[in-house]
Amino acid sequence: MSNFICPKCEQPLTKAGNQWQCPDRHSYDTARQGYTNLLLVNQKKSKNPGDDADMVRSRTLFLDAGFYQPISDAVNALVTRSGSVLDIGCGEGYYTDRLAKHLASAKSEALVIGLDISRDAVKVACRRNKTIRWLVASGARPPVAPQSIDTVITLFTPLMPAGLKHALSDNGEVITAYTGKRHLYELRAQIYDDVNMDEYSPILAMQDAGFECVEETRVNFRIQPNTNEQLQALLAMTPHRWKVSPDKAAQFALLASLDIEVDVVLNKFRRQQTS
Ligand SMILES: C[S@@+](CC[C@H](N)C(=O)[O-])C[C@H]1O[C@@H](n2cnc3c(N)ncnc32)[C@H](O)[C@@H]1O
Ligand SMILES: [Zn+2]
Repeated sequence: MSNFICPKCEQPLTKAGNQWQCPDRHSYDTARQGYTNLLLVNQKKSKNPGDDADMVRSRTLFLDAGFYQPISDAVNALVTRSGSVLDIGCGEGYYTDRLAKHLASAKSEALVIGLDISRDAVKVACRRNKTIRWLVASGARPPVAPQSIDTVITLFTPLMPAGLKHALSDNGEVITAYTGKRHLYELRAQIYDDVNMDEYSPILAMQDAGFECVEETRVNFRIQPNTNEQLQALLAMTPHRWKVSPDKAAQFALLASLDIEVDVVLNKFRRQQTS
């Protein structure tokens, strides 16, 4: 038994060899890299949904250089529930892996699941940690048993409140990360004449879905990428990559280093208590 459910009929999946199967014999292969594909064709809006291989490679190069370790440490510090953890939109697994290692070092017997709609991302994530269950699946309807997860983390990923409601246990907690208004200010100033200072907050959408915010932490620090490869990787892992004009891209290609502000807001949510 596991706490995975069939994405077609929502009955429990059991493992048979390198397949997962439900009582109605819907079956899902585990790839040789170790991940399981629980994404149905009708859940895809394109052939290869989610981040593409180039974006994934850039993210790995940048994250493995340690620039965002303070964000990962702050996320780990917010995880205080014992039990199962689900990372929705785990990408190439940097944060999932560091959280699993953090929980293991605290002798917490957590089941950690990393889920992303991008197969390219999950393939890379698989290499990071074999103790994590890696799934290609949609966060809109995570294929886990209802209310079976004690902590959901969802970092820099489109908010999917219905998926969170489905997965999270009654006393469970959700931890989100979104970019603050000053995030990557100096990088954006290289690309745009007017830098947008809006800040997205998940609080209202989460309230509408029945979650209350119980903690908010701003993680603010500076980084100094000092090769153009690192700067290109940082740009390529953000949506700004699609918006650079050819002129600005040519200028950016000449930059050898940049001092950049990182500004990220972490929120922790619980289900609103109904009296
Ligand atoms: C900006 S990346 C963040 C990845 C990772 N959390 C990190 O911070 O490194 C957003 C991720 O959300 C994934 N994603 C987008 N829509 C999704 C969905 N419906 N279900 C699951 N993952 C999704 C993308 O494939 C991508 O890996
Ligand atoms: Zn089924």
